[in-house]
Amino acid sequence: MPTLFIAGTGTDVGKTYVTASLIRALCGAGVAVEALKPVVSGFDPAAPAGSDPAVLLDALGRQLSSEALAGISPWRYRAPLSPPLAAAREGASLPGAAVIDHCRARSAEAPDGTWLLVESAGGIMSPLDDARTMLDLAAALAAPVLLVAGSYLGTISHTLTAVAVIEAAGLTLAGLMVSETEPDASTFADTVAAIAGRAPQAPVIGLRRGQPMEPAMLEALGLV
Ligand SMILES: Nc1ncnc2c1ncn2[C@@H]1O[C@H](COP(=O)(O)OP(=O)(O)OP(=O)(O)O)[C@@H](O)[C@H]1O
Ligand SMILES: [Mg+2]
Repeated sequence: MPTLFIAGTGTDVGKTYVTASLIRALCGAGVAVEALKPVVSGFDPAAPAGSDPAVLLDALGRQLSSEALAGISPWRYRAPLSPPLAAAREGASLPGAAVIDHCRARSAEAPDGTWLLVESAGGIMSPLDDARTMLDLAAALAAPVLLVAGSYLGTISHTLTAVAVIEAAGLTLAGLMVSETEPDASTFADTVAAIAGRAPQAPVIGLRRGQPMEPAMLEALGLV
């Protein structure tokens, strides 16, 4: 099935917000969609509500259950650390090759008309295991990358650095989504324009605080 890899310039920039918004917009447009957040850290099994897989399940209109959580996020760790470090705190080792195999299998198994949205963990070069980063997962899936960035001071450099790394890996940049970090009408449009001016090769879309994904944004990203 067509797969979109949702990467970030860092942690907490809005990947889950954007992924959940994409799910709702695609469902609203009558397009079938599935989601994966293969690896999640900072996950408390005693309080899963509000976690990334729970937010994605909610967007998919599915009940929160341990089976459903495991389906979206097979590798879940408690510590709010980079995934391999969080796994190590539990005496485990995050199996990067198995994560890649699982994502590839999920990508291959669903029907053609269904989008699979894969939310990365952390930033584009966050570790997946001792040798690999999230960039390697994106490359293994050969999926176009939607790069999510914040609008905070410093995001222009973080975003252009991530774009350069994604392109150097030979991956297709489907688009950039600048998700507003703090409501700030006076600088948001300028920040989005500054990124767009320096990354003309892909659509750059600004998403205001609380703004839903609009049908025109799905079109700009080539999802419909
Ligand atoms: N455009 C937006 N409007 C409203 N809230 C937003 C927006 N973008 C991000 N947020 C909020 O900011 C917080 C961080 O965003 P989010 O959880 O999506 O980041 P993330 O990149 O998925 O983080 P992680 O690296 O932990 O997966 C969340 O509370 C989210 O709801
Ligand atoms: Mg997230």
